Amino acid sequence: MDLGLQGRVAIVTGASAGIGLAIAEELIQNDASVVLVARGAARLKAAASALTDDPRRVLPIVLDVAAPDAAQSIVDQTLSAFGKIDILVNNAGRAQTGGLMESTEENWAEMTSVKLTAMRRLCKAVIPHMRQRHWGRIVNMSSIGGIYPNPKLLISHVLSAAINNFTKSVALEVAADGILVNAVGSGAVATDNWANNMIPAVRCDKPEWAALSDEDVLAKTSAELTPVGRAANPREIAAIAAFLASDRNGFITGDTIEASGGADRFM
Ligand SMILES: NC(=O)c1ccc[n+]([C@@H]2O[C@H](COP(=O)([O-])OP(=O)(O)OC[C@H]3O[C@@H](n4cnc5c(N)ncnc54)[C@H](OP(=O)(O)O)[C@@H]3O)[C@@H](O)[C@H]2O)c1
Repeated sequence: MDLGLQGRVAIVTGASAGIGLAIAEELIQNDASVVLVARGAARLKAAASALTDDPRRVLPIVLDVAAPDAAQSIVDQTLSAFGKIDILVNNAGRAQTGGLMESTEENWAEMTSVKLTAMRRLCKAVIPHMRQRHWGRIVNMSSIGGIYPNPKLLISHVLSAAINNFTKSVALEVAADGILVNAVGSGAVATDNWANNMIPAVRCDKPEWAALSDEDVLAKTSAELTPVGRAANPREIAAIAAFLASDRNGFITGDTIEASGGADRFM
């Protein structure tokens, strides 16, 4: 299917690894130009040069999306390199394991500012440019924990529910402007973030698996908790995000697309 992404300009946050990198790759392969945002300069620049031989189609921006002036800086640099903004993918972030009693002022504030505050600032900064051209697509990365909360991932899942709600509200605010806003509620996706968070949590819960390798712990957890029997490959989430971000999506807005391999709980 031709997604009609030729010539589109997309900003993807958290694009140096995992799901964000897979989304950037999918968009580039469909002939869009992509602005990649992440904090770690070396990994981001390596990702940008691996994505395409044409340096005019990628712009790596080394920034923490939680910084107060990050959104404006990303918009200014995108406009100066490409002259327009068609697509925003708010993906930067990570999981925070632990329930209410493990939550701290620091991790609550940090997670909220990376996932939710940065998303609000970036949407607010790109929408005037999308409105001018009466076309825009915004995709927010959420998790199925926003629908089926796991109390052991309290902060992450409260924020996912907030992202789903934010997505619906913003979608309604800009629906008449040619701008479609959706979220992807992922289940387990095989990335470093997922492995690094899940392995210690699962090992705590399942002392009987102590002799298993990390790889086997993840495979057994995925098989037990996901009806399709495995975690998603990041490319499977990227395909959904690219469709939502494309011309071929003309009528879905305000939705959170569940991509969980049939799971109705998150780990
Ligand atoms: N993997 C899953 O099972 C899963 C499930 C549901 C939802 N999600 C969500 O999907 C998103 C991507 O997760 P992932 O598993 O792909 O994670 P990942 O493999 O750890 O990649 C995270 C990306 O975000 C960047 N990043 C993190 N914090 C940032 C910040 N403050 N400013 C700018 N960039 C930042 C990282 O680069 P730097 O560290 O260099 O900044 C990296 O490029 C996250 O929002 C996560 O919560 C993941």
